[in-house]
Amino acid sequence: MALFKKKTTMDHILTAQQGELDAEYMYNEMAKVVEKDYPEVAENFRKVAKAERAHYNVCAKITGKTLTDPVPVKAILVSNILKRNPKLALTLVANGEYDAASEYAPFILEFPQIESVLKDEIRHGNNAKELIAKYF
Ligand SMILES: [Fe+2]
Ligand SMILES: [Fe+2]
Repeated sequence: MALFKKKTTMDHILTAQQGELDAEYMYNEMAKVVEKDYPEVAENFRKVAKAERAHYNVCAKITGKTLTDPVPVKAILVSNILKRNPKLALTLVANGEYDAASEYAPFILEFPQIESVLKDEIRHGNNAKELIAKYF
């Protein structure tokens, strides 16, 4: 019965793949918010967006699927918070990055290529915290 069907590893990786697409979109949207007042931060966000695209590609190689439409909810929410309260926005981003790292953890034995993605997510979390300390 579908209601009780256990999520397969592929389901999890596909969810992560969509998450990477959403994260790429979110960071690019965040860059637009800060590019006028904080061009260095915008550049930082765009660099992270590129890493999220690379993560998407790692997941895509595993799932064999192509996803094209980011779910914009998180990007809209975080970008709006970023305009008023950058500390809060970047704290949410940092927590999201650490959560993403945890969600990848169960899969690194089966897919060793995911380990570098996991480490990147931790770096992204630290990066968000460093941006708070340096700019906000
Ligand atoms: Fe990522
Ligand atoms: Fe990330």
